[in-house]
Amino acid sequence: MIKVVYDIKVYREALKDIIKSEDIVVELGCHVGNSTKIISKLAPKGKIIAIDNSPESVKKMEALVSEYTNVEFRKADVRLHETLEDILKKIKTCDVLSVDLGGGYHPDTTFKVFFIWASSLKPRETIIRNRGLLDFIHSSKTEEIIKSKYGWLESSGKDGVPPGLKEFTLWSSKIK
Ligand SMILES: C[S@@+](CC[C@H](N)C(=O)[O-])C[C@H]1O[C@@H](n2cnc3c(N)ncnc32)[C@H](O)[C@@H]1O
Repeated sequence: MIKVVYDIKVYREALKDIIKSEDIVVELGCHVGNSTKIISKLAPKGKIIAIDNSPESVKKMEALVSEYTNVEFRKADVRLHETLEDILKKIKTCDVLSVDLGGGYHPDTTFKVFFIWASSLKPRETIIRNRGLLDFIHSSKTEEIIKSKYGWLESSGKDGVPPGLKEFTLWSSKIK
């Protein structure tokens, strides 16, 4: 399932419905970790990779990592290929992908980040917090149904994997 939300309270409630105890969660845009703490408690037997490129995040996330031992933090730009590559080397599977680059953040960039990361990680579920995408969903109309069961777009799943990452198919069954 791909869930799209805007309100931060709705986002945090939705995390509770989605995340299971053993899940591996990739959180894009963790800021100072307010939702990371919630995710960490929801997945006590799992792992959380939290990423943010803001200098504001560093000290607070470093403190959080020492308290919440199932959390790892990376200060990195999630739009960069090298960031995705680094995470793919680290984890073999991802159960839940969360994309929150800011509720009002450019929907085009948010969608691109979702598409590339979800196509590569093939998560069971994805949650995206973005107002523009929510507006698009409710303002658009269609009679044709093309639908995916999981947290990535099955209709174009291969297209989203950057060419340099296709070599990972050799050792990760998750990228197909
Ligand atoms: C609204 S905050 C996230 C709030 C957080 N998810 C929570 O629930 O508390 C959005 C974050 O996305 C981060 N961000 C935006 N663009 C980014 C990028 N290209 N790479 C990494 N982080 C990014 C910002 O630095 C900011 O901390």
